[in-house]
Amino acid sequence: MNKIIVAIDGYSSCGKSTIAKQLAQYAGYTYVDTGAMYRAVALAVMRGLVQLPSLAGLDQIAVGFRNNHVTLNGEDVEAEIRTLEVGNMASRVSPIAEVRHFLVAQQQQMGRNKGIVMDGRDIGTVVFPDAELKLFLTASPEVRARRRYDELVAKGENPVYEDVLRDVNDRDYRDTHRAESPLKQAEDAIVVDNSNLTREEQMQHIYRLFDRCAERLKTAARKD
Ligand code: DC
Repeated sequence: MNKIIVAIDGYSSCGKSTIAKQLAQYAGYTYVDTGAMYRAVALAVMRGLVQLPSLAGLDQIAVGFRNNHVTLNGEDVEAEIRTLEVGNMASRVSPIAEVRHFLVAQQQQMGRNKGIVMDGRDIGTVVFPDAELKLFLTASPEVRARRRYDELVAKGENPVYEDVLRDVNDRDYRDTHRAESPLKQAEDAIVVDNSNLTREEQMQHIYRLFDRCAERLKTAARKD
């Protein structure tokens, strides 16, 4: 069967990466978390490997994946990039055109053989505008803040819910208002609002969308 590209975009803390990971497993595809790549660049800035605003050093760093964990210069930094501080820095570096070009080129390379589920903000609009299946995930800011809060608590952090909610709203604003590749729904994306869906309901819905898309392409290929 011909493999496809699945592009998953949406707001922060919508459960995008969990959904993308599970769909990749279901389909037998490779999963790529592009947010982790922006976070790795943010960590490189925080470590002084990349200077702002000159971006000196950007072409010297290597961002990659090993066993679904993001690496910076070969070091597994998956745990370190998940803090609020790195998230905030990622939101500052991700609007920079040079940073986006640096990472988008790598992301397009990763999808050259298809069979990939990639999640981010601009996957269906910029990275893979021809992706066969595009999903746009949303949930209310309150639902997302509660999920993010629970995640941070589970990690042993001590967050304040109001701070997390403000952070979600600020990040939404920055993600949707930046000049370079703002978060926006591709015209041909299917919207999945998961505010009131259980994880199981949501995954069954997404598996059905994937199967239907794969089936449609198979039928189209037979007709050619
Ligand atoms: O999904 P996340 O919270 O891990 O993303 C971290 C930051 O990177 C967030 O501010 C949005 C940004 N990002 C982006 O601009 N483009 C992507 N394709 C993925 C993430």
